[in-house]
Amino acid sequence: MARIVYVDGAYVPEAEAKVSVFDRGFLFADGVYEVTSVIDGKLVDFAGHLTRLARSLSELQIPAPVSDAELEAIHRELVTRNELTEGLIYLQVTRGPADRDFVWLDDPTPTLVLFTQEKALIDSPLAARGLSVALMPDIRWQRRDIKTVQLLAPSMAKMAARAEGADDAWMVEDGHVTEGTSNNAWIVTADGAIVTRHLSNSILHGITRATVRDIAADLGLSVEERAFTPDEARAAAEAFVTAATSFVTPVVKIDGQQLGDGKPGPVATRLREAYIEQARRLAV
Ligand code: PDD
Repeated sequence: MARIVYVDGAYVPEAEAKVSVFDRGFLFADGVYEVTSVIDGKLVDFAGHLTRLARSLSELQIPAPVSDAELEAIHRELVTRNELTEGLIYLQVTRGPADRDFVWLDDPTPTLVLFTQEKALIDSPLAARGLSVALMPDIRWQRRDIKTVQLLAPSMAKMAARAEGADDAWMVEDGHVTEGTSNNAWIVTADGAIVTRHLSNSILHGITRATVRDIAADLGLSVEERAFTPDEARAAAEAFVTAATSFVTPVVKIDGQQLGDGKPGPVATRLREAYIEQARRLAV
């Protein structure tokens, strides 16, 4: 079945979906995106994704192409048309087409594209095995709080990690871990504290991160929001990453150092189960 994708008001087969070569998303990476997970045909943490999208757009002065209600209707229509029960919906808004110029127009016509991708999110082989991560310098720009489509730096970090035999990279800046290439990074210290970096312009304000932090608090677990060092990461009892595409996924090796017995740890496993249980219950 050919996927049906959404482009600027139309639902079209993927082979017919087109965007202008003058689109500033193509020429300047002048655009933002969101990825919302779908389980049981329903949207997970959707309100959070809408709120973050609005913030990303406003930080870049890109007008919202349609209302939140219309965005929700488009998400639902794509789930229906593509018979998606488990996977992702990718959404991208760019500043739209214009003659190539570093100065942008005051009244741009933004481009809006959405498509679905099937993915086994709950029965994930990677989550069962646990990830290995390599540490790489964070060479990204300084507004990582804006979810822009300029993803070459994290892509390069992930490829460098792969070349070392790891699954993914955690990026390091000024002696501290910032985050994963497409996820937020967490460790559990030897004395049981769960640590993830505090919010700032240095990391993406993960929607899954916020939900997992609240779930951990509900379970009576202590969460410290602060930067941690590569040494702390290598010495951690366990570790995990969070993202819409991977929920909570255990990390079992950091920079060649195996954590604990090299198997997904109890805290990560418990948080993954609790996250999936809540996502199923609250998905809309
Ligand atoms: N990435 N940090 C970075 C750099 C990310 O790219 C992502 C998500 C996250 C986690 O955010 P959230 O929990 O809201 O998904 C953190 C998406 C999934 C991607 O690029 O595919």
